[in-house]
Amino acid sequence: MIWLGIESSCDDTACAILRENKESIEILSNCLYSQIDEHKAWGGIVPELASRAHLEKIVPVLEQALEQANMSIEEIEQIAFTACPGLMGSLLVGANFAQGLSKDLGIECYGINHLEGHICSAIVDKGEWLADKSFIALIVSGGHTELVLLKPGFEYASIGKTRDDAAGEAFDKSGKLLGLGYPAGAEISRLAKNGNRNFYEFPRALNEPASLDFSFSGLKTSVSRYVQTKGKEFVEENIANICASLQEAIADILSLKAVNAAKKNKVENLILCGGVSANSRLRELLTERASKNGINLICPPPDLCTDNGAMIAAAAIFRKRAGLLVGNREVRAWNELF
Ligand code: KG4
Ligand code: ZN
Repeated sequence: MIWLGIESSCDDTACAILRENKESIEILSNCLYSQIDEHKAWGGIVPELASRAHLEKIVPVLEQALEQANMSIEEIEQIAFTACPGLMGSLLVGANFAQGLSKDLGIECYGINHLEGHICSAIVDKGEWLADKSFIALIVSGGHTELVLLKPGFEYASIGKTRDDAAGEAFDKSGKLLGLGYPAGAEISRLAKNGNRNFYEFPRALNEPASLDFSFSGLKTSVSRYVQTKGKEFVEENIANICASLQEAIADILSLKAVNAAKKNKVENLILCGGVSANSRLRELLTERASKNGINLICPPPDLCTDNGAMIAAAAIFRKRAGLLVGNREVRAWNELF
């Protein structure tokens, strides 16, 4: 079965083509247009600009995905698109495009939850949902920071979330205060490689065993005060050390709570996913702490950490195999929300 996965929930226009085999899934192409340059000047994502860019780029990105997979559009047999959550205008472009294409080609089309897509990005190489196991997923992106308990049969329970900013937002907003570009996560991670993570101790909010919630707005305030007190010149001279300390504060609290969540719920498998899961210090700390506690850590490959179309198609494949996708029903259910 050949699948097309479409992702347009935020500022990436993405299309991927996957081949579903009996026991495995092959990613034949995974293409993306990043709108970062269009939003950079504004220091964050402008929803109106995002939907316009999706409209302009979705056809070229699909053409690129077909070319890389060496396929024609008629060979696509199923379509999956991101239905929610995300920016309304951006979601609508992907949804309308997917539904129009499915009608034109006479094939099925499924609406997928973006966060479920991120979870599936970590297990796409396994070819199946962790069907017989319960596991914890730590979803860390620009818009979300959530600890989810997943039980067999796609049963979800949110067991912890951020009370204010998401972890990716903490990277991006702190980066802006430090004079870095947008989004700042990858740049902070790069600069931190040459820095001392014990240079300054930024706060770890809600650092108590009883709570699985997060809070990052205090961290942002602390970075702002630090910059004001120390001055621009000091910050520029010590940028690597400051980035390493900031990254440590975020990675420390995320990894502590994720392992705590797994222990509390007596599960042996932990998935780390979402854009921030590309952060190597977070992976390192989590690997260390998970293995000390006998927990198996599963992470997506680097190219599937940030938003992409392959994870959306993978989620549809896993759901279909579990008998949890029925034709266009999910698409209608989603449309009814408007
Ligand atoms: O999942 P994603 O691509 O989009 C959303 O659904 O939000 O995540 C984007 C976020 C941004 O905040 C970005 O700064 C962060 O992921 N990010 C990173 C790294 N790469 C991307 N944060 C920390 N370290 C990285 N290496
Ligand atoms: Zn995402």
